[in-house]
Amino acid sequence: MNRFGNKFRISIFGESHGPQIGIVVDGVPGGIPLSPDDFTEDMSRRRSGASGTTPRKEADVVTIVSGVFNGHTTGSPICMTFMNNNTRPSDYEKFESHPRPGHADFTATRRHNGYADLRGGGHHSGRVTIGLVAAGVIAKKIIEPVSVVAKISEIGGFNPWDDALAKAAEAGDSLGGIIECRASEMPVGIGEPFFDSLESVISHIVFAIPGIRGIEFGDGFAASKMKGSQHNDPIADETGKTLKNGSGGINGGISNGNELLFRVAVKPTSSISVPQHTFNFYSGEVEELRAEGRHDTCFALRVPVIVEAAVSIALADLLM
Ligand SMILES: Cc1cc2nc3c(=O)[nH]c(=O)nc-3n(C[C@H](O)[C@H](O)[C@H](O)COP(=O)(O)O)c2cc1C
Repeated sequence: MNRFGNKFRISIFGESHGPQIGIVVDGVPGGIPLSPDDFTEDMSRRRSGASGTTPRKEADVVTIVSGVFNGHTTGSPICMTFMNNNTRPSDYEKFESHPRPGHADFTATRRHNGYADLRGGGHHSGRVTIGLVAAGVIAKKIIEPVSVVAKISEIGGFNPWDDALAKAAEAGDSLGGIIECRASEMPVGIGEPFFDSLESVISHIVFAIPGIRGIEFGDGFAASKMKGSQHNDPIADETGKTLKNGSGGINGGISNGNELLFRVAVKPTSSISVPQHTFNFYSGEVEELRAEGRHDTCFALRVPVIVEAAVSIALADLLM
């Protein structure tokens, strides 16, 4: 189901080429100041436009349908919607017969008995993450003074990445990237020892972002090659402050009061004009596909603010 959270509950809806997309956030206490202006900065960070991102342009202006009155949250469910105006469904007609390798065309068609809306990737489109970013704006207010910042650390294995990006775009190919996320001012004690460990809850929502391929906390996979004396974080005082952060700020599923630190691997965009083989549902043959249309050469460029929103939502849910 398309919902997440126990106390800060979100339910996401919409398709890339439907009339509107959005999110319902339930559980937000009354009295939090909230206006459409609060969304401007994070919406512009998610928006396309930079080199390597899709030429599709949308205004991304939030309509707050419910749950806010006189500039404050009311305590009732907050529904936020965004218009889809710049759609070109004809770009996607071919994918009904020729599912794009790496995208959700094949799985969504099979799962929904051929009724899935594939236009623009439908409900699997990166466009749907706009709802997450909107909920993140509210979550960021709830988790204060905790502050979450995500940044790109590399694209296609490069930093700087401009040349690699330009070459991939020229070749009709795509690139992925790595996003590093840190949360400061973390209190000790967030998270449960087992199934709702802080890593589990963060991973749960981060993997809801389309195209995420991996997540590692602190030293992550490199920890497997370290000795305990290298990976352990020496504890320096009664607050639990550590002298390094190999565990990413979490021990036993519970925040240890140090900075929360994790990295996310984002895959290269599936829709590429390099020819690839796919199965034609109509002819029953394996055929060549060049995925034309408007796509991000590297959607990782747009992911930092989405990761920030996802983590803020997870933290808001656990803190409340
Ligand atoms: C912000 C954002 C933008 C995206 N843009 C594209 C795109 O232009 N073309 C594309 O093929 N995939 C794009 N994706 C990735 C697809 O949505 C994703 O690969 C697809 O839903 C399949 O899911 P999976 O990669 O998790 O298996 C984007 C993802 C995000 C988060």
